[in-house]
Amino acid sequence: MSLYPSPSLLLHEVLEAAKKLPPFPDVVWKVMPLIQKTAPLGEIEAVIKYDPVITARVLAFSQSPHFSRRHSISSLRDAIVFLGEQQLIQVIVTACSERYYAGKTPVGYDLREGELWEHAVATALMTEIVGKHLGLGDLFTAYTAALLHDIGKTVLSHFVESYFDSILTLIKKKRMRFLDAEREILGIDHQQLGVLIGEQWQLPREVIAAVGYHHSPQQAESNRDLASLVYVADRMVSALGIGCGVDGFLQPNQDAVFAELGISSDLMDRCLADLVEAVRETRTFLTS
Ligand SMILES: [Fe+2]
Ligand SMILES: [Fe+2]
Repeated sequence: MSLYPSPSLLLHEVLEAAKKLPPFPDVVWKVMPLIQKTAPLGEIEAVIKYDPVITARVLAFSQSPHFSRRHSISSLRDAIVFLGEQQLIQVIVTACSERYYAGKTPVGYDLREGELWEHAVATALMTEIVGKHLGLGDLFTAYTAALLHDIGKTVLSHFVESYFDSILTLIKKKRMRFLDAEREILGIDHQQLGVLIGEQWQLPREVIAAVGYHHSPQQAESNRDLASLVYVADRMVSALGIGCGVDGFLQPNQDAVFAELGISSDLMDRCLADLVEAVRETRTFLTS
């Protein structure tokens, strides 16, 4: 294998691999308007139950202490009744996203099996924690964007593994960020690929924008606050060593984003403490 492959040829292969991803389940987009118009429980339940795999995972995630709290949730109906509207939607979108991460070991990024999924869920939980501390509304969009921010890695991992030496050479010789070296060698980075996948799945525009700038929110032309929220959540989760992998420590310091959002070091500590608890409370779901 050549040290410097032809990017156009490789890019074609990468894009073909991305096209093979199954469509994103539309259950979440079907349930949302039903919840908004306070549709009968049976109607909401019927939409979720249409997909038995998602139903099982919605139930499993609802039962984790982070969501169930003091309620005993033993059925989908219980989950719909006891979780708040926002949490129900979060649980559904989490269940919908899991299939793209599950069972894959993103070896190219030096992550163990399940670690990228754990990183995705932890980042999503972190956007919720930070958003609540900052008094932000509509955390669902941020939660979804965070859950899918590294979705490009699920496809690129295999290519990163194959061309890891070439990527590493660029990082060392030209002092590039991992993301830039990834783009230079493969013709696309995981951030850009995430945007293409988001478009393929017809995800909301704001979600796609945040995925596309999660490493560089200051360059975002729209939805900058959303991209910034995902960025800080990703940085803090990586700082805890959850799915940091090979590229987590090679990013330049962009702490101006933290300052812009009004996140002091004291608030950061509180968010990190909250996340440790949230991750502990969801671990049963993540490992089941
Ligand atoms: Fe990333
Ligand atoms: Fe990440």
